[in-house]
Amino acid sequence: MIIYKLKDYAEMSKKAALIIASQVNLKPNSVLGLATGSTPVETYKQIIKLYKDGNVDFEKVVAFNLDEYKGLKKENDQSYHYFMRDNLFNHININPNNTHIPDGSNMDAKHVCEEYENKINNLGPIDLQVLGIGLNGHIGFNEPDEHFTSKTNLVKLTKSTIDANSRFFDNINDVPTEAYTMGIGSIMKAKCIMLLASGESKADIIAQSFKGKITPLVPASILQMHPNVILIGDEAALSKLN
Ligand code: GLP
Repeated sequence: MIIYKLKDYAEMSKKAALIIASQVNLKPNSVLGLATGSTPVETYKQIIKLYKDGNVDFEKVVAFNLDEYKGLKKENDQSYHYFMRDNLFNHININPNNTHIPDGSNMDAKHVCEEYENKINNLGPIDLQVLGIGLNGHIGFNEPDEHFTSKTNLVKLTKSTIDANSRFFDNINDVPTEAYTMGIGSIMKAKCIMLLASGESKADIIAQSFKGKITPLVPASILQMHPNVILIGDEAALSKLN
């Protein structure tokens, strides 16, 4: 595992953007796994800058997002479809047909999950998977559970996740209670996984995930089993990891 401990959020975001751009420069038709949440926002800004300065080209890149709220249409400004267009896709030359996100507006969970997993298997493997981490250790939307999920699945969000994500919604009652997410197994199939963490609030869960026992109660702890993980954090988030 490679650990990059950077001074602050700005520095860690620059480093993460450089790694993503390097991946694309090394392999122009890379398959990227992308994440939402507040943590990667500045990384995406830095990628847009690298693209605008002519340092990286996304024409042949394929992207898979980790997850989407069930019940939200693509046009909803809280959907992850909207987030990705707004924060990244609309500002780089990625072909929209090459961007994949589970269809939250389709209530047929079995169909959505099977179709998404098949797409990843057909177009993958994912070369570089970007992850954030929830306060309870969730990756994608794989919440703490008695076992690790394997494939793309429908999850019931925990109170902790609903509370944390309510900051993006007008009212906590508007936060969807279910989501489609790539499974832990789908994530672990990526050739390389890069997890981003920023801020003191993530320090405990980062220590538990990377120094603690491997357990589905801390979903990110499974990353200890992956042969090619890059952890990028600011000093605050990595402060409890020696
Ligand atoms: C959401 C996303 C996760 C993300 C997490 C952390 O729940 N589904 O993929 O990692 O939020 O978000 P933040 O980066 O805002 O702390």
